[in-house]
Amino acid sequence: MPRIAALVVAAGSGTRAGQSLPKQYVPVGGKPLLHYSLRAFLAHEAIHAVQTVIAHEHTELFKQAVKGLTGLLMPSFGGATRQASVLAGLRGLAERVSPDIVLIHDAARPFLPAEVIDRLIAALERHDGAIPALPVVDTIKQVDENGVIVATPPRPTLRAAQTPQAFHFDTILQAHLKAAERPDIEFSDDAAVAEQAGLRVVVVEGAAILRKVTHGEDFAWAEDMARRLKA
Ligand code: CTP
Ligand code: MG
Repeated sequence: MPRIAALVVAAGSGTRAGQSLPKQYVPVGGKPLLHYSLRAFLAHEAIHAVQTVIAHEHTELFKQAVKGLTGLLMPSFGGATRQASVLAGLRGLAERVSPDIVLIHDAARPFLPAEVIDRLIAALERHDGAIPALPVVDTIKQVDENGVIVATPPRPTLRAAQTPQAFHFDTILQAHLKAAERPDIEFSDDAAVAEQAGLRVVVVEGAAILRKVTHGEDFAWAEDMARRLKA
């Protein structure tokens, strides 16, 4: 059986959410947002280790957020970008558990169905990487710096990427180390890092409930969802 680790990045500041706390620590259904995804990974029998990446100045908030959870690794400290935070977490995992597979997840996506984890792990038997994704409903436009449309990719070819994103551990660590040598390019997800390294990454069926809490209004949705999950 492969050793599978989860890496949850929670070192952002949540600027767009406009809350007084960084969004991953805002209580939803009585628990900080971060608590939910960590709990989902800890509860999944295929996951051997759970590594969180936090900002150093959020250490106390993190301790509060993980109250009642057992089996987490000590957190790593993140960097200025999501990409830097992921690399910090991969380094932490390399030292601590040296897993075969890693699932890299945004703390800002609290509700994580076990079936998505299952689908990702199954897809890794045949591919370098796998990510959950959904078809897009809007027509997506590519625009230039003046807002002028330069391309309209055909909608059936487009997917909205979610997390967790799953990879063979050594492969994604090498891809991230290589990406870190190009500070002029910032990759917004790990599939883009993998793509840049020439890896073959597939999409599996995502889930609407994996939605990322980004803006203030997303908290009403998260609160409602937390209540329904409890009921
Ligand atoms: N993240 C991180 N380290 C950073 C930036 C982001 O670990 N330097 C994490 C966030 O905590 C979040 C995930 O990456 O769980 C996705 O990022 P995003 O939704 O953009 O969160 P923030 O960067 O915190 O929010 P914003 O962009 O609105 O400031
Ligand atoms: Mg951000």
